[in-house]
Amino acid sequence: MVVSAPQNSPSLGVCYYPEHWPEERWAQDAREMVALGLSWVRIGEFAWSRIEPEPARYDWDWLDRAIETLSAAGLKIVLGTPSATPPRWMLERFPDMLAVDAQGQERRFGSRRHYCFSHKGYREAAAQMAARLGERYGQNPHIQAWQIDNEYGCHDTTLSYSDAARAAFRQWLCEKYKTIEALNQAWGNVFWSMNYDRFEEIDLPHLTVTEPNPANVMDFRRFASDQVVAFNYAQCEALRAYTNKPLIHNYMGRITDFDHFTVGEDLEIASWDSYPLGFLEDRLEADTDHKLAYTRQGDPDFQAFHHDLYRAVGKGRWWVMEQQPGPVNWAPYNPAPLPGMVRLWTWEAFAHGAEVVSYFRWRQCPFAQEQMHAGLLRPDGQATSAHGEVAMLAQELTALEDTKQTRASIALVFDYASAWAWDIQPQGESFNYFRLIFALYKALRRLGLSVDIFPPTTEDFSTYKTVLIPGLFSWTDALRRAVKNFTGPVLIGPRAGSKTPDFQIADTLPPDMPELGVIVTHVESLRPNLSLPLEKGGHVAHWREYVETDGHVLEHTQDGVPVLVKQNHLHYLAAWPDATALQRIVQHLCSEADIQTYALPEGLRCREFGPYRLYMNYGAQAMQLNGHALPPASIRLINTTDNHIIIE
Ligand code: GAL
Repeated sequence: MVVSAPQNSPSLGVCYYPEHWPEERWAQDAREMVALGLSWVRIGEFAWSRIEPEPARYDWDWLDRAIETLSAAGLKIVLGTPSATPPRWMLERFPDMLAVDAQGQERRFGSRRHYCFSHKGYREAAAQMAARLGERYGQNPHIQAWQIDNEYGCHDTTLSYSDAARAAFRQWLCEKYKTIEALNQAWGNVFWSMNYDRFEEIDLPHLTVTEPNPANVMDFRRFASDQVVAFNYAQCEALRAYTNKPLIHNYMGRITDFDHFTVGEDLEIASWDSYPLGFLEDRLEADTDHKLAYTRQGDPDFQAFHHDLYRAVGKGRWWVMEQQPGPVNWAPYNPAPLPGMVRLWTWEAFAHGAEVVSYFRWRQCPFAQEQMHAGLLRPDGQATSAHGEVAMLAQELTALEDTKQTRASIALVFDYASAWAWDIQPQGESFNYFRLIFALYKALRRLGLSVDIFPPTTEDFSTYKTVLIPGLFSWTDALRRAVKNFTGPVLIGPRAGSKTPDFQIADTLPPDMPELGVIVTHVESLRPNLSLPLEKGGHVAHWREYVETDGHVLEHTQDGVPVLVKQNHLHYLAAWPDATALQRIVQHLCSEADIQTYALPEGLRCREFGPYRLYMNYGAQAMQLNGHALPPASIRLINTTDNHIIIE
């Protein structure tokens, strides 16, 4: 089916659970949503037990009425498929559908996401549920988009060690390697006498005495990712028979357990769930000072990074499906945002090209697991402060005339397989792929720069001025070609091209790219507090490589070891520099690439889009910007053609 075209102007939405509230309240809620300026409402994604209370008995009436009521008020609906919450009876049907954790424990019923992606019976049941929903609502004009499942991988659910996973893994290996000899060769199973005689002998890589073979685990991670892709695809295929509306999934912050780019190929729109304060506490290595300084604002780069990542995953089309409106319930500490932050986060998303920002959730639910999670309304139905900010936003957004994304000058390669590889073989506790990428991203953002993110299958960077490829596990042919054909400065490393796809060290040694004129002879990881001063200032932390090179050494440590080497337009970074040094290195790259940078004060961020530049004060103090005060948690939107202030 031809999928309907994107809308142009940015709009707002909310997540709503009609099944949580008395039906008499629905119409009022719907009216209030519209009065607030919301145009989208997402429903249904956890409602399986209400839709199909017992096997094959469907109760559509309530959902028909909910859709009718919400749309009668003027709302467009995103309908979720409920596969993240199979009802209890599903376990009678498939007692072996539960995921099993790495310790061999079943993950039981009583919350959500209690399924193993590899279980064929459950996958089929989920696809059938998607088909039934499609059949009933696929042509309903009020259903304008679909969400498939909810947050794949949430609660650590991508990897499962169930019987279903074991059988599927063997099958996957058999299809990949064809012969057991080929598998033994690829994995290097002669080591420790790990050879197999038959695929049926292969177990899942857990509960081994010491670490399992990294090549084995890498294949398991690829397999696990493919299972998510297949699970998602089964529902896409089911829905596509009935609807031409866009299919969406809501991904998460800093979850790298499956290849989002591959899942995204089967969907029209990527979305993600943005919880800036929860993520600051829960997902960042930042020190206490940083966490304290941003406790009510969120890290100033975390949201932007994911906006850029999911814009790439969505091939240009992306939403924020859930955004925090107040304290959440799940992080170690759950502060309230500074007044203004809900507005600022929303503006930031639109500046990065979001089509829709939707809040989680409409009204705080007084029962069950998330009773301490804020909504736009309090449990008693009265407005919260976020409600006021959303009302303001809805007005302000009408001032935007053109939200076209401007192509950035900088391309950054993000590769899920590299995240798996360095999880499997960190070689030092602090080496983490996301952390490395994010450190570079931060350095770019501090210079006021916009970044476009690319998968490792990218063939062509010719419209960019510079390309960064940190931490890449293994070259793809496409990426090798893209680097060879690119004429601007490229930054490669650290730890890039350091393995073959079979998780072996290439004969040519890392970075396995002769044009770089660098060979990494050996590497070392550094314990916390061991940092190596750099000649030009700043330090190396976490990781350093020793290289042989005939290139030009641009940076070295005080003990004389090369850190940044240049060969023609290619640069190899042979260490993990701290923020100060990274800033300098990135600045150098930008000057070679003729990219204008801006030294932004701590806490200030900006983003250019269409004819606009958006400034955001993520800091807790007012700052001066072009002679005007920019209060904490506030934004300023200017038109760059005449520097006219449009909104502040
Ligand atoms: C998201 C999830 C929602 C809700 C929310 C709470 O991860 O998709 O269903 O649980 O977190 O913050």
